[in-house]
Amino acid sequence: MTEAAGRPRVLVTRRIPDAGLERVLAATRADLWDDELPPPRDELLRRVAGVDGLLSLLTDQVDDELLDAAGPQLKVVSNFAVGFDNVDVPACTARGIPVGNTPGVLTETTADLAFALLMAVARRLTEGYDYVRADRWLTWGPMLLMGSDIHGGTLGIVGFGRIGREMAKRGSGFGMRILYHDVQRATAEDEAALRAEPAGLETLLAESDFISLHTNLSPETQHLLDAAAFRRMKRGAIVINTSRGPVIDHDALAEALRSGHLGGAGLDVTEPEPMRADHPLLSLPNCLVVPHIASASHATRARMAEMAADNLLAGVAGERLPTPVNPEVYDRPPAA
Ligand code: DGY
Repeated sequence: MTEAAGRPRVLVTRRIPDAGLERVLAATRADLWDDELPPPRDELLRRVAGVDGLLSLLTDQVDDELLDAAGPQLKVVSNFAVGFDNVDVPACTARGIPVGNTPGVLTETTADLAFALLMAVARRLTEGYDYVRADRWLTWGPMLLMGSDIHGGTLGIVGFGRIGREMAKRGSGFGMRILYHDVQRATAEDEAALRAEPAGLETLLAESDFISLHTNLSPETQHLLDAAAFRRMKRGAIVINTSRGPVIDHDALAEALRSGHLGGAGLDVTEPEPMRADHPLLSLPNCLVVPHIASASHATRARMAEMAADNLLAGVAGERLPTPVNPEVYDRPPAA
């Protein structure tokens, strides 16, 4: 047997930065789906058959069908993202398969983008840019493109995990009052350090000038912001989403923007993804949409690639993943 033949077989469903990919290619027999678009479902099911490890992206659905197609030798699913709503984690756990994600390394980068969206929508940057490009700038105007002040505003953060807390720091730096809502209350020390006040969701919606979503997608958070939630918000409030698209009901959002009740929205994530150019939200000047790029800095994507490689290589070696999302998988009795 050649040396290469003894290496584990893995499927990598898209080219990721070299910082992680090169190690994977060196240590495994890797099948790399090297295309700009994700593998079509039938291709994914075909290629996953017989692999020891899967390096997946949030565009791949990892479910029972895929796990069946892979076969019982599959030892690890390493997801190149901190979010893992594309992976049926209980199904993996039931089969004894650890699932890895990339927490921690994208926290600040994601909060930077969330705050950039907040600033861009509040101060109408894209509208201003379109105005100049359309050659409509004829003079200085006393009431031209007036927006909302960020300083002195109230920032409501829904989901006060790592990224939500980084968002709080950015808001505090701009002199904002910070409210947060989370199922778990932060410690008194963290609240003091971040100058953040806990609030029920209804209070947060009613009192915030800016509402930024940093929650996981789950059955509880699906369409958390619906028509009723938008009605509770202040007139002129601005909504920012860098979590997952389905946390917002997009029809209700479009209506709240169209009616003028909401001041604007900045979305890094949408439902569905990708959002097509003829989507009603894209016809609204106060809705800024970018294509799920919150973690897309060179340095952060390289660190995500390293972590995804670490999880994949540990898993195929039968070692504990550095960052498993289902650590309970290691408490299971070994198969008889
Ligand atoms: C994640 O990691 O979950 C982001 O959505 C993409 O970086």
